[in-house]
Amino acid sequence: MGLSLTTYGLLAVSGGALRYTRLGDRPRPSWLRPAHYLLGSALVGLVLLLLSIGIVGTLGEYGRLGHSVHLPVGLTVVALILASAWSASRISPERPWARKAHLTLNGILLFSLVVVTATGWSVVQKYL
Ligand code: HEM
Ligand code: HEM
Repeated sequence: MGLSLTTYGLLAVSGGALRYTRLGDRPRPSWLRPAHYLLGSALVGLVLLLLSIGIVGTLGEYGRLGHSVHLPVGLTVVALILASAWSASRISPERPWARKAHLTLNGILLFSLVVVTATGWSVVQKYL
């Protein structure tokens, strides 16, 4: 999860650089966009990995899901990251709403990542 939050931070920085080079009419290094893409795919992969570990681990241990709010929050995170990646693929000059959607979804995503970490952590505490 630390890795996910770090990746999110790098995405925020590289995304900020993308915005800076777009708005200021400054030269954009050619690696910047692919780097942001690569980091984005890494975050999608990490979240899906945590989802599968959570589901498989919980099913293996209890044979059922839904022990706490960690489940709905986890599913929300997965939905948000997929929606964010989709909105990113829609970004273009003809679709100004896609850029706005990308930024809004990423804001909610940060909040949800914090909540999923907190709820996951409180489940861990119960077993210590
Ligand atoms: C889910 C994975 C992600 C993918 C696939 C992705 C992809 C993209 C793409 C394709 C663009 C457009 C680049 C361009 O205009 O040339 C973009 C822009 C941007 N992204 Fe992401 N991104 C992801 C996650 C994030 C996250 C988590 C953040 C912030 C925390 C973020 C912040 C930004 C920002 C600030 C921009 C620039 C918007 C602008 O130009 O006004 N992205 N992203
Ligand atoms: C994107 C991040 C995450 C996703 C999508 C996710 C998803 C899930 C899901 C769907 C479950 C099954 C829950 C249930 O049926 O009650 C689960 C279980 C669990 N997760 Fe996560 N999780 C994430 C992050 C974390 C983190 C950061 C922690 C710990 C700090 C954590 C700790 C746990 C634990 C301990 C369980 C077992 C639940 C139980 O025994 O009731 N998870 N996770």
